[in-house]
Amino acid sequence: MDRQTLIGPFTQLLPMTGLPLKGALKDEQLPVIENGGIVVSKGKILKIGVFEELKSDEVHIYRIEGESVCLPGFVDSHTHICFAGSRARDYAFRNAGKTYLEIAKAGGGIWDTVTQTRKASQKDLVHGIVARSKSHLNNGVTTIEVKSGYGLSVDEEVKMLRAIKLANSKTKVDLVPTCLAAHMKPKDWSKDKEYLDVIANILFPLLKSENLAHRIDAFVEESAFSPQEIKPYFQKAKEMGFDITVHADQFTTGGSQVAVDFGAISADHLETSTEKEIQLLAQSNTIANALPGASLGLGCAYTPARKILDAGGALSIASDHNPGSAPMGDLLTQASILGTFEKLSNTEVLAGITFRAAAALRLSDRGKLEPRAMADFVMFPTDNYQEITYHQGQMKPSQVWKQGEPIFQ
Ligand code: NIG
Ligand code: FE
Repeated sequence: MDRQTLIGPFTQLLPMTGLPLKGALKDEQLPVIENGGIVVSKGKILKIGVFEELKSDEVHIYRIEGESVCLPGFVDSHTHICFAGSRARDYAFRNAGKTYLEIAKAGGGIWDTVTQTRKASQKDLVHGIVARSKSHLNNGVTTIEVKSGYGLSVDEEVKMLRAIKLANSKTKVDLVPTCLAAHMKPKDWSKDKEYLDVIANILFPLLKSENLAHRIDAFVEESAFSPQEIKPYFQKAKEMGFDITVHADQFTTGGSQVAVDFGAISADHLETSTEKEIQLLAQSNTIANALPGASLGLGCAYTPARKILDAGGALSIASDHNPGSAPMGDLLTQASILGTFEKLSNTEVLAGITFRAAAALRLSDRGKLEPRAMADFVMFPTDNYQEITYHQGQMKPSQVWKQGEPIFQ
């Protein structure tokens, strides 16, 4: 909509502004505008406030009937939604008591998805990403980070990242690509050259020249890459101007130290982080990204979110949507459940999937409803924002708006 449009009235409007990036948040701190309205123009927010006070001769009104709570479109800051095939077998293996390594040896795990993703065409991958993005959008997610990492060769990683770029042009959701070529050591790699050297020397320049990704991720873990192995890789990435993010402390610690040392934007997972890692992260500018979908998928501990917040850390929450450890892909459900187990306030849960998640992607134009921000927002059919987390994802959005346009699909 190019002309100015006033949308509302909303029973409650939650702009998620005026809150700090780091530390614990109480619900008394949450700004709530009763009978609120938003003026949008050209995909951006012009004004926000009380609906009646925003009325003028210049604005066209888009009236919202019935009760509604409106808040920023959710940001899912960690996913692997570019993949082919299923890992249903892993679920059965896990529940029969097999360990992560035993499942990998039995033909499951990440390598299984690599095999299936390599067989898929770029077109198939685009189709899968677009379909999964739509289901996220219907749940109120308007920005999704998407990782590669099931290609594990220069050509196959390029195929995945091109698919993500193409999918971005075919979906209303904004997709933020991340190169996760360092997801695990490819089982078929010939030993004459170092895998990470080839990726850094050949793939990194391609990411720049084709504008495929400006973020580099790595799985720092005993079963993937050690801190020592990953340091020269991250060093090269930093020198080339990439943002860094890390899969850290999922099964063993070590990754969060690397993340902080390299000034990573985020350290994700952190299920095994101890007091030492919690303090380290809290005193850094690295955002701690909790992935409750992986805890639910694997039957593992949750990220110590309460402790991270109480230590003064910045906590975002993402779905980790992937075919292995987190096939559910429902951010609001998972964030609400993390809230239950980790005793988070509603404000901490909502901050974790709005402005704190946007910060985990270094995006300053979303996650908050304020003038000049992207006009991305989600409405729920209730008069009380507490109902949203209370229903643990069962209350679905009544409307989702992306860049000032209502989405119907
Ligand atoms: O974030 N931890 C490593 N990578 C993914 C899992 C990917 C998979 O199992 O396919 C994660 O949980
Ligand atoms: Fe992940």
